[in-house]
Amino acid sequence: MPWRSTNDPYKIWLSEIMLQQTQVKTVIPYYNKWIKKYPTLESVAKSNIDDLLKIWEGLGYYSRCRNFHKASIKIFKDYNGKIPEDFDQFKKLPGVGEYTAGAVLSIAYGKKIPAIDTNILRVMSRILGLKERSKSNLNKIKKNLIDYLSTEKPGDINQALMDLGSMICKNKDPYCQNCIFQDICKAWEVGDPEGFPAKNKKVAVKKILMSSGILVDDELILIAKKKNGIYREMWQFPSVSITSSTKDNLIKKKFKEEFGIKIKSMSLIGSFNHLLSHRNIYVKVFTLSARKTLIESKNLKWIKAKKLNLFPMPNLYKRVFEIFQNYKNGSK
Ligand code: ADE
Repeated sequence: MPWRSTNDPYKIWLSEIMLQQTQVKTVIPYYNKWIKKYPTLESVAKSNIDDLLKIWEGLGYYSRCRNFHKASIKIFKDYNGKIPEDFDQFKKLPGVGEYTAGAVLSIAYGKKIPAIDTNILRVMSRILGLKERSKSNLNKIKKNLIDYLSTEKPGDINQALMDLGSMICKNKDPYCQNCIFQDICKAWEVGDPEGFPAKNKKVAVKKILMSSGILVDDELILIAKKKNGIYREMWQFPSVSITSSTKDNLIKKKFKEEFGIKIKSMSLIGSFNHLLSHRNIYVKVFTLSARKTLIESKNLKWIKAKKLNLFPMPNLYKRVFEIFQNYKNGSK
């Protein structure tokens, strides 16, 4: 893990943001590419969000990138370019929560602050024999961790506990025989390590239907940016949300309202399910033809299809483009 061999708070912070909801092996190439292009926090603060999102492209949860950019600017505006060492100041920055603040400040600045991610929560719940995921149990865990962190390098303790959680004290089939905490572990003592902590209630996956269109004018394709939603600031093909019963006419109306596009005709060329952790998006892909009066703006551009890779685009829309290409190749 490249972020383990540095004590630069900027790099440690970036790694912690990238590692949220994302596996180490996925993050490593993104981290390396980012650091090569943006070796300092100042270089991030001075860059524009499009260029940053281009590097983040494919990693998902794009608000992490937008928030990191905003936070970098704030650090130059409010803190003279120095990442604050104070927990409350650091935690106020966009995208920084209790876990991230604890992780960065303990690893980079040696602060004795717990960083309770799902791994550490599991390790500590088992050692202490705490089943319920309650506020009072969380406070017990914090208290105990603060004792563990009374060392020269509290960041190493936090990270060692994360590693123990991901490699030994695993969610399923933990390697209790190899665990240094076996002697003191209450969950082991009662013979049910997997029962601690109690399982999270399953979060319902929200089903969303969406239709996405590509306007073709010879080699040109229309891309758009939306002001809100999970993909704001990313480029996408104009798309609108629909339900399973939305009729074509209403879809057309929505394209007009949201993008100012007057659609002459549309045809369905494919569909797919795109699964995110809390969303299952059903996407219908249309080719649209529109009147040529469409006016470009900051958030609506005609581009050559082969230039598409210059624009940050979420995976979902790359899949839309694949369907479009297959359709075009098939109909040649
Ligand atoms: N997951 C998130 N941050 C981590 C870190 N610093 N070490 C190991 N796993 C992590």
